[in-house]
Amino acid sequence: MEKVLIETYGCQMNFADSEVVGAILKTNNYALTDDIEQADFVLINTCAIRDNAEQRVRHRVRELKAQQNKRRQMRIGILGCMAERLQSQLMSEEENVSFVVGPDAYRQLPSILQQVRQGQKAAETELSQTETYADIEPVRLASNGISAYISIMRGCQNYCTYCVVPYTRGRERSRQPQTIVDEARKLWQQGYREVTLLGQNVNSYNCDNYDFPQLIEDVAAISPDLRVRFATSHPKDLSDKLLQAMAAHSNICRCIHLPVQSGSNHMLKAMNRHYTIEWYLERVDAIRKYIPDCSITTDVIAGFCGETLDDHQATLDLFRQVRYDYAYMFKYSMRPNTYAHRHMHDDVGEEEKTRRLNEIIKLQGEIALENNQKEIGREYEVLVEGVSHRNKSQLFGRNSQNKVIVFDKRDAIPGTYRRTIVESCTAATLIGKLAD
Ligand code: SAH
Ligand code: SF4
Ligand code: F3S
Repeated sequence: MEKVLIETYGCQMNFADSEVVGAILKTNNYALTDDIEQADFVLINTCAIRDNAEQRVRHRVRELKAQQNKRRQMRIGILGCMAERLQSQLMSEEENVSFVVGPDAYRQLPSILQQVRQGQKAAETELSQTETYADIEPVRLASNGISAYISIMRGCQNYCTYCVVPYTRGRERSRQPQTIVDEARKLWQQGYREVTLLGQNVNSYNCDNYDFPQLIEDVAAISPDLRVRFATSHPKDLSDKLLQAMAAHSNICRCIHLPVQSGSNHMLKAMNRHYTIEWYLERVDAIRKYIPDCSITTDVIAGFCGETLDDHQATLDLFRQVRYDYAYMFKYSMRPNTYAHRHMHDDVGEEEKTRRLNEIIKLQGEIALENNQKEIGREYEVLVEGVSHRNKSQLFGRNSQNKVIVFDKRDAIPGTYRRTIVESCTAATLIGKLAD
């Protein structure tokens, strides 16, 4: 049997896709391996969201040349968003890449590998209006046997002006709900205790008028001991109906990722986000009204086209007001062929972008620490996940709010729920002890 190694970069959707790819290859008599010395094919599932994401992949591809010189039969293929963005151009730029396959063409991988084995090069990057891989049961590559991803929709057509995803992932399409609920139930029966429902904008999930609140309630109904998470929520579509569904099921986790991108209405308009800061803050209030113990996390971009110092201040002010529990913070990276690339000017200098980003990071670090300090003395149920990376005599788990809590092992077992009391903290972690 030929062996395939899959490496994954980018977002959770990409990790979920790699598990679909793994399943397709296994059914076609390939074996999966983690050992590069054994691999006949190395598939790199890539991200194109920022230039540095692409540079990492190019670096990795070049690094693999040494392996290829040792083992001439080893072939490298690029999957995912970079494959879709650059198509066969990628093979002329990186001459040790033999094939590129876009996110909607994974069913063709077995036949592509066959062509490649015969010494040909291959590119398959057609996007689809309908492909959801609904019938494929993913192999759980990234999983600890406790928590798994379920992809519920594909694509995005929001066309935020900075973003490459609508071009790399195609039109939005929702997967048949029954296949999602069945997949979640099977995971539960196999011993999984947490599923994360994934889409670029889960709030716009819609399959013949069956919507995301209905879906999440049906998944949550599988068992009160199955935790249900989801990402990502676009603020423009965050409905009261979803918040009510969350409030009604304590196993739908108390954490909403609500990417704001900027605190300035002027920027939000330029970004084509379809909401104002007033709308966004009203949604934050609604979250806190329906689910008072909900954590809120976000994504933000520093230095988008035309961002003034006032716009940047507005972002800092917003952070002070919302007091996020966690934020993913990025410097704007101009992506070829996006609306911003075609019609706007990347006019905030690199150094100034870094300065603004660092200002946001510093502020958010202070806020996260203060938020965590308020947790001291509180008791939380955690789903125990495994041994702490820092200290082997400790375990870690997450509470419903998705905060990591580390605690002394004692008799706790990964995959079970335990009550813990928070005793101290850093900006990133809560440190506690078992309560019983
Ligand atoms: N669908 C999700 C986001 C997916 S991309 C949503 O709309 O919220 C993840 C994050 O990457 C985005 O939220 C944004 O903050 C960031 N991002 C996207 N394009 C970017 C770019 N060109 N430069 C810098 N950050 C970007
Ligand atoms: Fe990109 Fe906007 Fe779609 Fe998110 S909603 S993936 S930021 S275009
Ligand atoms: Fe990256 Fe594609 Fe995800 S560009 S963030 S891997 S959808």
